[in-house]
Amino acid sequence: MCGIVAYIGGKDAAPILLEGLARLEYRGYDSAGVAVTGKTGGLKLVKKKGRVADLASAVPARFKGSVGIGHTRWATHGEPSDANSHPHLDGAERFAVVHNGIIENAEELRAKLENEGVVFASETDTEVLAHLIAAQAKETDTLEDAVRAALARVVGTYGIAVLDAERPDRIVVARNGSPIVLGIGEKEMFAASDVAALVRYTRQVVHLDDGELATVRADGFSTFTEDARATAKQPSTVDWEEASYDTAGHAHFLIKEISEQPSAVERTLSGRVDERFATAHLGGLNLDAREARAFRRVKILGCGSAYYSGELGAQLIEELARIPAHAEPASEFRYRNPVIEADTLYIAVSQSGETYDTLAAVQEIKRKGGRVLGVVNTVGSAIARECDGGVYLHAGPEISVASTKAFTSTAVAFALIALHFGRVHDLSPADGRRICAGLKALPGQIREILAKEEEIAKLAAQYAQNAGMMFVGRVRGWPVAREGAQKLKEVSYVHAEAYPASELKHGPLALIGPELPTVAVVPDDELVEKNLTTMGEIRARHGRVLMVGHTAPDPKYAEDCILIPKNEPELDPILLGIPLQLLAYHAAVALERDVDKPRNLAKSVTVE
Ligand code: F6R
Repeated sequence: MCGIVAYIGGKDAAPILLEGLARLEYRGYDSAGVAVTGKTGGLKLVKKKGRVADLASAVPARFKGSVGIGHTRWATHGEPSDANSHPHLDGAERFAVVHNGIIENAEELRAKLENEGVVFASETDTEVLAHLIAAQAKETDTLEDAVRAALARVVGTYGIAVLDAERPDRIVVARNGSPIVLGIGEKEMFAASDVAALVRYTRQVVHLDDGELATVRADGFSTFTEDARATAKQPSTVDWEEASYDTAGHAHFLIKEISEQPSAVERTLSGRVDERFATAHLGGLNLDAREARAFRRVKILGCGSAYYSGELGAQLIEELARIPAHAEPASEFRYRNPVIEADTLYIAVSQSGETYDTLAAVQEIKRKGGRVLGVVNTVGSAIARECDGGVYLHAGPEISVASTKAFTSTAVAFALIALHFGRVHDLSPADGRRICAGLKALPGQIREILAKEEEIAKLAAQYAQNAGMMFVGRVRGWPVAREGAQKLKEVSYVHAEAYPASELKHGPLALIGPELPTVAVVPDDELVEKNLTTMGEIRARHGRVLMVGHTAPDPKYAEDCILIPKNEPELDPILLGIPLQLLAYHAAVALERDVDKPRNLAKSVTVE
């Protein structure tokens, strides 16, 4: 949730750290800080509540040092403040530490350290680490041993980078539940919590595993375990373009990413649709036809929008493969001692591949011997590595906190999985071909929907003036309605509630009136008449209706309509989500919200 960046080499560290932090700001944005040191010794530190731009203006011109660490924070322990910002120092100001994650026994360790006379400068769990490292350094010879010994006393999750003013030839980093990636340069090295901070400087990276540490020097690195055994790492090449991390002329990352969906979907589909045999090729699933047939159920897990895309996925798998499928929030699943069945296939969904609850759910399934696949965007991420196989989205990096292109690409990946499973079950070649053709038509149809941006922006500006909105849908439209409500509330802060259209009469109809408009998601399927009846019931209570569908209804059912092209009924929900993204984006713009960095949120929830 927070961002870490570290540099060691021949250049001035501060500008590189600040540039890296700006790239990581989507991960957390309530405070930021940098610490540097160099051959002349002594730590220099600037940290501040606020954005990275505020930090950059506070860094003095003479902030020199060729080794340094930086952090952008999303508060967990202690409110956003200058004192609670990272890096944190020990009392003698020799060690500086930046940390992502949560130290669960921080209170206990803090009490012990205070008894020993340590004075704390912040309320954070991270400061405990700085003092522990300083205490261990008195009893050990190397920075590495001091860090290892300190971490041995800690319970919790961490990605850390540690600077030692007395050893400016190295940075020590460690990972346990929170990502750390090393970047290999020419006589310089980088470390970060996310490749976004590195791609400007290098494409050669090394991902640390949980329980691994690394010594990073200007001329290279070495990795080792918590009990000091050396590990061997192979660098990999990042294939995401640096340009993906810029708004490229768009007002916000959110609209850039919404606009990128035709090409994101093309990449998700690329090389996977086999029209000849009317199926999908997904080698990464690591399942032969017999194994794929053997599963009796599919359980899909994810958080937030990833969970809603999993609901779309469950529907696609049931429809096309006729395997009972169900999605559940990973955060609920992992806490309820789930029954793991040998004949259930588990699928974890995550854009970042780092969401802590989803990762914990995957680990729980594996601990109990279950088979779990990943539908993941970030190559080499923790969830991707933990799964037994899966499908990469290839949607490109998603920077805006609200997920859009990853949501759509995930739904497309599920359509491929459903087609693949369908064709090893009872889906006919004719239906398989129909779905193949539908999948290939998606990018062009998404372009057609994007061309309606101006029309949707006008509607968004009007509807944004209401204090709240209801979203309803039935069966295929229901996960779309849920995701539509989620997008609107998170980026515009307009209260939005989603209900199955069929449930309105069982309670929420009491809310309906002129002040609470409804967005009705209406796929052109066998339930269209039932949806029109619901819209009629809303109109009869003087509720305003904005219909998102394929065919204009009688005006008595809806004041406003957004009409989009029609694909196959099973695939239409993928398209119906796109206008709702534009609606949320333009509502947020009309209300002058911080579109890419909504309040209180962060991209990638790497804590529980
Ligand atoms: C909403 C949103 C979040 C994420 C959720 C899971 O727009 O972005 O709800 O979908 O935090 O994140 P990932 O997919 O990275 O596991």
